[in-house]
Amino acid sequence: MLFKIENLTHEYSDGTLALNDVTVAFNRAERIALLGANGSGKTTLLNHLNGILKPTHGRIFFDDNPLQYDAKSLLALRRRVGFVFQDPNDQLFAPTVKQDVAFGPLNLGYTSEHVKMLVDEALTTVGMLEYVDKPPHFLSGGQKKRVALAGVLAMQPEVIIMDEPTSSLDPIVTSDILHLLLRLNKENGLTLLLATHDVDIVPLFADKLYILNKGEIVSEGSPKKSFSNAELIRKVNLRSPRIAHLFEVLKKEDNLSIVDEFPLTISEARREILRLIDEAVREAKKNV
Ligand SMILES: Nc1ncnc2c1ncn2[C@@H]1O[C@H](COP(=O)(O)OP(=O)(O)OP(=O)(O)O)[C@@H](O)[C@H]1O
Ligand SMILES: [Mg+2]
Repeated sequence: MLFKIENLTHEYSDGTLALNDVTVAFNRAERIALLGANGSGKTTLLNHLNGILKPTHGRIFFDDNPLQYDAKSLLALRRRVGFVFQDPNDQLFAPTVKQDVAFGPLNLGYTSEHVKMLVDEALTTVGMLEYVDKPPHFLSGGQKKRVALAGVLAMQPEVIIMDEPTSSLDPIVTSDILHLLLRLNKENGLTLLLATHDVDIVPLFADKLYILNKGEIVSEGSPKKSFSNAELIRKVNLRSPRIAHLFEVLKKEDNLSIVDEFPLTISEARREILRLIDEAVREAKKNV
């Protein structure tokens, strides 16, 4: 277990109960999605994993050690756990893009050549190299998000936590960044934990899906399994991915014999459509 969260409750100072007795564990190299409607507690949960927030009750372990909140321990944790905030304005602070991305690696004591290499590589990866000398506050929302991710990539962490990774990103950048994260997961065993309410991107990267509702985890399992519970999905103010919804309609309205766990991605949908065509052709041949 990389992260173990035991009976985590968080109550904000105004009395809001944002998390209520959450117990969950995340494995190394997993690709985890945390899905929930606005206000369900996603950001609150993630902010506990790098020590921005402290539990009101409960305990958090990273690599079998309880989280410690002194500056040295937090620095050591954040070296291994990279965090991309929901709002990049909370993350970017240096006068230029280059200085912002270099900040983490410089703090690790690397040589300036090595830092430059890491910064160039990270900015190239997110397609922002041409903006190295620009002040971050002059960038667009999506560009800021990409620079914030570059700052995390340059640290080469073991875990990347992204809060709403795709909000404010255009479709091509979204797809490029998801592909990059999946590659790092496959090649380097990077653990991915992404919080989102974008149901359509969940099946594209997650092998494990947790659904949060009103501060509690109400579903845990593969995206296939969780999205097949249409009643629960509706109850927690979410919806199925559009592809699954199409198959739900084809089954209910058009009486097609669709598999019980609906396809969630284009490739799964393609397979199911070809299977249906094949079935129909066989049936037609039988009746000739
Ligand atoms: N600093 C705070 N003080 C008081 N209440 C807060 C604070 N931050 C969040 N909350 C409340 O805690 C609950 C959970 O908020 P949180 O930001 O974790 O939700 P979320 O799932 O990330 O939502 P979103 O999808 O909108 O980002 C909400 O009811 C919110 O109003
Ligand atoms: Mg949030």
